[in-house]
Amino acid sequence: MFGFENMKISSSDATKPVINLDQGDPTALQEYWMSTKMKERCVVVIPGWELMSYFSDKTNVCWFLQQDLAEAIKALHCEIGNAATEERYIVVGNGSSQLCQAALFALSSLSEDKPLSIVAAVPYYSTYEEEASYVQSQLYKWEGDARTFNKPGPYIEMVTSPNNPDGTIREPVVNRGGKVIYDFAYYWPHYTPITHRQDHDIMLFTFSKIAGHAGSRIGWALVKDIEVAKKMVQYLTINSIGVSKESQIRATAILNELTKSCRIKSESFFEYGNEKVKSRWESLRWVVDKTGDKFTLPEYAQAVCNFFGKSSSTYPAFAWLRCNEDKDLEILLKEKYVLKRGGERCGCDKKYIRVDMLGPNKDFQNFLNRLLTINGSAASFVKMPKSDPNLCQTHNCNLLHKYFTSPQQWLSRKDSTSPRTLKRLAAQATIYSIWAERNKRLHEGVMATPEPVRDVILGRRNGKNFMNLMFCWSRHE
Ligand SMILES: Cc1ncc(COP(=O)(O)O)c(C=O)c1O
Repeated sequence: MFGFENMKISSSDATKPVINLDQGDPTALQEYWMSTKMKERCVVVIPGWELMSYFSDKTNVCWFLQQDLAEAIKALHCEIGNAATEERYIVVGNGSSQLCQAALFALSSLSEDKPLSIVAAVPYYSTYEEEASYVQSQLYKWEGDARTFNKPGPYIEMVTSPNNPDGTIREPVVNRGGKVIYDFAYYWPHYTPITHRQDHDIMLFTFSKIAGHAGSRIGWALVKDIEVAKKMVQYLTINSIGVSKESQIRATAILNELTKSCRIKSESFFEYGNEKVKSRWESLRWVVDKTGDKFTLPEYAQAVCNFFGKSSSTYPAFAWLRCNEDKDLEILLKEKYVLKRGGERCGCDKKYIRVDMLGPNKDFQNFLNRLLTINGSAASFVKMPKSDPNLCQTHNCNLLHKYFTSPQQWLSRKDSTSPRTLKRLAAQATIYSIWAERNKRLHEGVMATPEPVRDVILGRRNGKNFMNLMFCWSRHE
């Protein structure tokens, strides 16, 4: 049932090239932090005698919150313009997962009627159901889909925007005066246009999905009501006696770098992140398109992003892929050694799966290759031997074998139509482009769609020698 159950499958049989795209493990963003500049700037050194106390600031409601982290959080929100921080309490947690449970505890223990119903509109982030049911609390009860919820009495609605798993921009749907917890894990400019400053009673954010540092386990809540903030802190005190100071110090250093990077376009983390997710989405859409009508991906409207100062689309951290045939997509992909979260876990049906878009480059690339071969959908594109699930390499070998002999013959053949120099130029340019494309796919997980290739060709059309050569090429080839 739980999010990490698939870990067992991937680690138990090391010989199988299993791709695990079930968890949202945002390691794709690691490249940015490995750049020479960032490598140096984000080093944190903590002497053995420092940070030994449980306490950070005994006068603060959240007594284990490091003051520098609070300042870094406010500065980042102010720079991005995605959330109001004034007149709010910042509660830091061991990831926003812990804060979500703290908020459920706070709101339900302050409510007179118990148990409180917990709902979220389908498809929802599956962990909410797990968090609301696991300890079988008498304070609250998971009631499932917010759209069909009609039980009288108080309730808490979880609103995730952009939504995990389907990336849609969301508002509450029950609207009967209940409490709402807003989870803004993905309301950052690399994933979605920042259209306005969010301003709600309880807003959750996670360091994991902003910068990609899921391992630091840092999240924060912006809370208006002091009583709710105090109850959340009470929960965190009983649950883990606060939050690691080492993690807070590291998060502070990285958040400060993020904020600084916003002011230098060439260093901007959010520009980088946006390009990264966008190119993955373009590759995935291209592959889905190649499989005919087999799969569908959601479409997202364009909106003006106040941070980037231009119109852009949403590029969610997960892809919500639908199988258009009456099939269990999770099982179909499991046969291809691809693990992902099935739609049923998110309150939906088996035709859907949630795919992590922020995993390692190689995994993402292999996933695309395997998707192309589902049920022979790619049979006319590339023929794969059934026995070899490592399709990426086989794919390249087949293509090379199939297409490399004819250019060789063509090059060595003398004819009166194409000058030899043109043939050689074309052959070298082709080899170079294939090599560059192969490197991009292998090392960066980026797959060129036909459009950039077209643009590269057309971009040279005004060049001095281009027209004659192009004319010659298109006349004879
Ligand atoms: C919507 C949403 N909220 C919260 C989390 C958990 O974040 P954290 O790593 O801070 O616990 C996730 C992680 O995938 C998420 O997708």
